[in-house]
Amino acid sequence: MDPVQVLSLLLALLLPLGTAVDANKHKRDTAFEIYKKLFEVKRKDQINALNNLIELNDVNQQYKIIDIMLKGLFKVLEDSRVILIAAGVQPDGPFPEDEKIKDAYSHTVENSAFFGDVVLRFPKIVHHYFDRNSNWNSLIRWGIGFCNLSGIFNDGPHTQLLGLMSQELGISEKSPDYKNPFKTENMEFLPNTDAFQKALREEEKRRRKEEKRKEIRKGPRITRSRSEL
Ligand SMILES: *[C@@H]1O[C@H](CO)[C@@H](O)[C@H](O)[C@H]1NC(C)=O
Repeated sequence: MDPVQVLSLLLALLLPLGTAVDANKHKRDTAFEIYKKLFEVKRKDQINALNNLIELNDVNQQYKIIDIMLKGLFKVLEDSRVILIAAGVQPDGPFPEDEKIKDAYSHTVENSAFFGDVVLRFPKIVHHYFDRNSNWNSLIRWGIGFCNLSGIFNDGPHTQLLGLMSQELGISEKSPDYKNPFKTENMEFLPNTDAFQKALREEEKRRRKEEKRKEIRKGPRITRSRSEL
C-alpha cells in the first residue's frame, strides 16, 4: 500500500461501524452483547490498518500520517464526548438506543482503543504530538475512564489495553514491570541502527522547526491536502 492508501484506510476507521442491528428490538444486555461483537470486528480492522502503517517502514511518512490521523481521532472523540455528556449517558448505564448517541458511544470506545494501539506501536511519534496537547490529554483521560466503566474491556483480548496505554501516556504511574508488548514489532524500536536514528533525529528537528513556524503564524491551519504526503 502507498501512504495515501494507508491514510485513507486509517481515516475511514474513525467513522462508525454500520450498526445493521436494530438495538431497539433487544433488551439492554442483548444490545450490549451485540455491540461487543461489532467492537471485536472493528478492532481487527484497526489492527490490520496499523500493520499496514508499520509496513510502510518510513518514519517520515509515519509521522505525517499519524499527525493527520490523530487530529481526526481527537476531533471525533471531542464531538462524541459533547453528545454523550449532553445526553447524560453513563458508561455503565443502559446501552444507548438512539442512533446518534449509539454512534457517539461506539466512536468513544473504538477511538480510545485505537489510540491505545497507536501509542503502543508508535510511542515516540505519538508522544511527539500528544505531550504538548493538554486538550488531547484531558480527552483521552475521559475516554479511558469511559471505556473502563463500559465493561467492554473487561474480558476478551483487550483487557490489558487501557492499563498499558495509561502507563505509556503517563496518565497512570508506570509500574516497575511495565513493558510495551509491541517493542519488537516495529522499526520505531529497531536497536539504534544508525540510519534509522539519523532519520528520526532529522525528522524531529524538522518537526520542531515546523511547530515554531506554526506558533508564529496566527490562526488555525486550513486542512492540509493529501498531496502533502
Ligand atoms: C479502571 O477502574 C478501576 C476501578 O475503578 C481502577 O482500579 C483502574 O485503575 C482503572 N483502570 C484504568 C486503566 O483507568
